[in-house]
Amino acid sequence: MSSARFPDRPRVDAREKVLGQARYAADVAVPNLLYAMQVPATIARGRVTALSTEAAMRVPGVVRVLTAEDFPPPPAGGPGGPPPPPTITADIAYRGQPVALVVAESLEAAIEGAEAMRPGYAPAAFVATIEDKNAKTEPVKPTTAGDAPTIMARAVTRHEAEYVSPAQHHNPIEMLSTTAVWEGGVLTVYEGTQGSNMVKGALMRTLRLTPEQVVVKSPQVGGGFGQKGGPQRQTALVARAAMLTGRPVKLVVPRGQIFHNATFRPKNRHRIEIGADAGGRMVAVRYDADQQQSRQGQFPPDYHESPPMMYGIADYHGTAANIRIDTQAPGYMRAPTPHPSSFAFDSAVDELAVKLGVDPLDFRLKHRALRDPIDDKPFSTCFLNECLVEGAKRFGWEGRPLAPGKMVRRDGTQVGWGVGCGAYPAIVHPTIATLRVGADGKTRFAAAGHEMGQGIRSTIEQVLLRELAIDPAGLEIAIGDTSVAPQHVTAGSWGTASAVTAAEGAATKLKAAMVELLAGRTPPGDLHRQLAGVRRPSVQVEVTTVGPGQGEMQVAALRKGGMAVSGPAYPQFTSFSYIAHFVEVHVEPRTRRIRVPRVVSIADCGRVISPRTAASQVRGGVVWGISACLREATEVDPRYGGWLNNDLADYVVAVNADIGEIDVGFVDRPDDLFNTLGAKGLGEVAMTGCAAAIANAVYHATGKRLREMPFRVEALL
Ligand code: MOS
Repeated sequence: MSSARFPDRPRVDAREKVLGQARYAADVAVPNLLYAMQVPATIARGRVTALSTEAAMRVPGVVRVLTAEDFPPPPAGGPGGPPPPPTITADIAYRGQPVALVVAESLEAAIEGAEAMRPGYAPAAFVATIEDKNAKTEPVKPTTAGDAPTIMARAVTRHEAEYVSPAQHHNPIEMLSTTAVWEGGVLTVYEGTQGSNMVKGALMRTLRLTPEQVVVKSPQVGGGFGQKGGPQRQTALVARAAMLTGRPVKLVVPRGQIFHNATFRPKNRHRIEIGADAGGRMVAVRYDADQQQSRQGQFPPDYHESPPMMYGIADYHGTAANIRIDTQAPGYMRAPTPHPSSFAFDSAVDELAVKLGVDPLDFRLKHRALRDPIDDKPFSTCFLNECLVEGAKRFGWEGRPLAPGKMVRRDGTQVGWGVGCGAYPAIVHPTIATLRVGADGKTRFAAAGHEMGQGIRSTIEQVLLRELAIDPAGLEIAIGDTSVAPQHVTAGSWGTASAVTAAEGAATKLKAAMVELLAGRTPPGDLHRQLAGVRRPSVQVEVTTVGPGQGEMQVAALRKGGMAVSGPAYPQFTSFSYIAHFVEVHVEPRTRRIRVPRVVSIADCGRVISPRTAASQVRGGVVWGISACLREATEVDPRYGGWLNNDLADYVVAVNADIGEIDVGFVDRPDDLFNTLGAKGLGEVAMTGCAAAIANAVYHATGKRLREMPFRVEALL
C-alpha cells in the first residue's frame, strides 16, 4: 500500500467517447430486431375497460400487441431488494402508465401502432399534489439525538422557517432503453443500468426465470443519476415481448414517457428550527420533513441523513413523512435527500448567522463536528473545516461586507457572496474480483461496477497501474455485466471505495502469486514479459473484499444479486464525505435575472483516486446544483395529474451559458479507517450544499431570502 497521491491521467474512455465510438446498450447491433413502443394511459387513475388491438394490428409492420393478459402476476416474495416494478395491468395508478406494448418490424410502425390504440377507461377520483387536502400523510420513525425539546426551550436565539424543493426529473443524455434477446432458453438484456444485478433479479421474479436464464449487460451508461439505479418499468415488458415473439426486441423510451413513467425526485418540504445559546453556538435542531410519495412507493424520506453530521449539534429531533398521492413511484436522483436537505439546513444555518450578526464562514468554522450524534460514534475523518478554509482562501472571502446589498455595480447589478456546505454518507459494498495478467500483454480485471460517466474504470486503472507493471493499452476492465462477476448496484457514491479496494487487493495477491511463480528468478521487463520469460501464459487471482464490519452475510447477499451495502455508521466509527461551496451571484437590475459567474468548491472525499474524473464529478455536481436551484421543476396540473413540462423545451435545465468559472479543489487526505486506500465517496456530495450557497449569496446580494426552489426572476421582482 502506498499513501502517495495519485497522478493526473486522462479518463480511460476519453478517446472513444470523444470519437463517438463508446458503445451504449442501445447501440448494440442485434440481427432480426423488432422495435417496441409503449401505449401510455391518458387518465390519472382508474381502470382499462376496453383494449382493442385491431387498429394497431392493421398498421403494416406491427407484429404483436402485448396487454395485461400477457403478464401473469409475479409470485409473491423472492430474492432481496425492493419488489420489481409492475408490468402491464388493467388498474391505472398514474397518468402515463403503460397499458400496452406494440411490437413491430420498424420503429415507425411501432409508433404508428401505439398511436392507433384507443383504450377505454373507467376513470376514478385521484390526488395529484401534496397540497391536496385528500393527500395522506404517513410518518416514518423519527431521527433523534439527545434532548432537543429541552435544549431548544433554553436557547437564546432561534431561527425557524420552511424550505421547499420541487419535483424534478433526471434528464440524462442516454434515455432509458432495453434490448432483449431470448435464445436457447436464455434471456440476454442490454440496458444502460447502474444495477445489472437488480435488473436481473426483477426479470427473474417477474418472468419466473432462474439465475442461469438471465444475463444483463450494461456496457456504458450515458448518465444514471439514480434513475437507472433500479429496474424501471419498461424492462420486463420488452423482455416478455422477446420471449413471446421469439425475436430480439428493442425499446428506447421517448423522453416524454420517461417523465411520466420512470422514477423522479419527489417534491419535499422542510420546517426547520435551530436554537443557539448565549455564546452564539447552535445547540438544538427541530426539523420536520415530508415528501411526495406514490401509493405503493418505497423511496425513503431520509432527510436526516446528513444535517446532523455537519456542525456538531448534539441535540437533534427530526421527523419525516410520506405524503401518498396518485403518481408513479419517486426514486433516487443525485444526492437524493442530501441535496434538498442541505439546501434547507444550510440556508437555515445562514439565516441564524445573519440573526446573530456574525460572518457565515466564521459561524460554520466554530462548529467543527467530531462525532455522529445519532449513532454516537466518532467520525473516521471529517475535513469540512479544511474545505471551508481552503475555499475561502481561493474565493477571496476576506473583506466580504457582513450586511446584504452592499456590493452594487455601477449598472445596478447586485453582487452577493454565499457559502454552503453538504455531507454525504461514505458507503461500501463487498466485491468479488478476478485479475488475470497474460504473457500476451493483456490484463483483465472483472468485478462489480457500472460506468455511468463518473469514471469508475479510470479509478480502477489508476490503482492497477500504480501497483502492477502492466501495459495500460492491454488492460480490460470488465464491469456492469452479470456474466463476468457478481454485480452490485453502483449508486450512493459507493462505487469507487468498493472497486478500488478490490483492485488493490487483487494486485497485492497477484504480486504474491508472481513471487511464488518466479521462485527467485528475475526475468527482465514488465509482468507480461516476465510471464513470457518463464513460459507461463497467464496468472490469475480472485479476491473478495468487504467494508468495515462486513462479513459472510454481505458477501452472500452480493452473490445473490441483492443489496450488500454498509455504512455510514460502522462498528467503530461513522464516515461521511464533505464539501464547501463558495458562490458569487449577480442579480441584474431590471430583469432580476440571477447569474452565477464563479464558484469555488472544495471537497473532502478522502484520498482522491482519479484527479481528472474527480474534478469532473464536482463540476457536474455544481452545474446540477445551479440548475436545481435556479431552473428545474416538474409541474403538475392538479385537474389532470401527470406532468405538464415533459420535454427539454419546457423542463428547463442549466445550459453552458448559465455556467461560469468553477474552481475545484480537494483536501485529498486519506481516511485510513475506512479502507486501505483511504477513499470515501464523491459523486453525490459534490452537489450537496451548492443550492444553499446560491440562496445565501442571493440573500447577500439583495437582502431577500428565497426558500423555495427554483429561484426564478419573479421571486426577486
Ligand atoms: Mo445515486 S442517486 O444513489 O445513483
